[in-house]
Amino acid sequence: MAKLAHAQWSSRMTFVLAAAGSAVGLGNIWKFPYMVGESGGAAFVFVYLLCIALIGLPILVSEWLLGRRGQKNPASTMSELARGANKPKAWAIVGVSGIIGAFLILSFYSVIGGWSLYYTVNSVSGAFIGQDADGIGALFNGMLSNPGLLLLGHSVFMLLVIGIVARGVTKGLEGAVRILMPVLALLLVVLIGYGMSTGHFGEALTYMFNPDWSKLTAETVLAALGHAFFTLSLGMGIMMAYGSYLGKDINLLQTARTVIIMDTVIALGAGLAIFPIVFANNLDLASGPGLIFVTLPLAFGNMDGGLILGLMFFLLLTFAALTSAISLLEPVVEFVEERTPLSRVMATVVAGVGAWLLGIAALLSFNVWSEPLMFGLGVFDLLDTLTSKIMLPLTGLGAILFAAWCLDRKSVEAELELSTTGKSVWNIIARYVAPAGVIAVFVTGLI
Ligand code: PHE
Repeated sequence: MAKLAHAQWSSRMTFVLAAAGSAVGLGNIWKFPYMVGESGGAAFVFVYLLCIALIGLPILVSEWLLGRRGQKNPASTMSELARGANKPKAWAIVGVSGIIGAFLILSFYSVIGGWSLYYTVNSVSGAFIGQDADGIGALFNGMLSNPGLLLLGHSVFMLLVIGIVARGVTKGLEGAVRILMPVLALLLVVLIGYGMSTGHFGEALTYMFNPDWSKLTAETVLAALGHAFFTLSLGMGIMMAYGSYLGKDINLLQTARTVIIMDTVIALGAGLAIFPIVFANNLDLASGPGLIFVTLPLAFGNMDGGLILGLMFFLLLTFAALTSAISLLEPVVEFVEERTPLSRVMATVVAGVGAWLLGIAALLSFNVWSEPLMFGLGVFDLLDTLTSKIMLPLTGLGAILFAAWCLDRKSVEAELELSTTGKSVWNIIARYVAPAGVIAVFVTGLI
């Protein structure tokens, strides 16, 4: 009965936009470039691209496929599919751990959303104009060492997310994604153009695409794998939840390819915009989470029309962060709503405030609470490491193992509309290559 009532996306385009809205976010523009910088450049980029193609793509397809078959929230979808396939109910763990992962990510994601909001305000007030690297660096460090300011940004961002999810207007955002995403891409092109004018674009290209394999360590490979999951919103039940609204007529492989191309192009574009500025100003490649905030304002502060372009950029970045954050809160809310007597609004408030509280611990780890909490990491790094490097890969692994080994193989092949060669390729990748890749990287990265 519930099946009949379960709504569907109105078209393939709406679905692509919603999935891209979740995938494209801070992960592409804020996180990818600084991970490249911390991990030594092109070798990391190549491993990342390999992880996207060989592991991310099949897992994305698997999550959609599971969601479309289960038609419920991730936890119920997994337990129901397991029952149907005569497999242990314990598979529901895949759904539950995804929901926990989404909650943990939302907490620190919102802190960075707050940075983006603060930089939006800074661009309007002209704070970047004529500044050199030292001035921009001081602005960033000033923000980081000010817990009240971080709390304000984090709170406003989280309030926006809670407000949108509570009112259930998330579906209205796809129209905006359709327009704003291309504008964001265009702004990246402008920034790449600025990068070319610095005379250091070639250096950036070499850095990003000419690998020095000696830079590769088990740890950077695990970081690349974890980021492939993060950027595609995998291993969190989110794509599974989206898949549950997916009509039977939509081709999963083609759709996954479209979403992945958009996501990857934006991430690479962000890298190409940022690294020329790093080289031109002799900035530290390994500046970590501050990288985009100490580079891009330099471009905006020193180019024609920088005020308005900076404003547009940080507004769009905030918007991209919002659409991703909304997709993080949704599955948590659905879960709370289903398991408790709370109404949707109350469930949203409870889940959102919970993540907000945890986010406060994360933002304090940038200033007053910077001493390590566990494994030499502060709260922010701990949340990031626990989710990206551990929970997402394991949950994604669970999803693909279930799709490839527990579901009826013939019906999966039919559902994916595969040719004879396609079938063999899919089975080899989904059954062996992707799972073995995750396990190998995971085990070597952790020991
Ligand atoms: N994929 C989003 C990004 O790259 C972040 C995100 C992760 C969103 C997990 C939802 C789930 O910014």
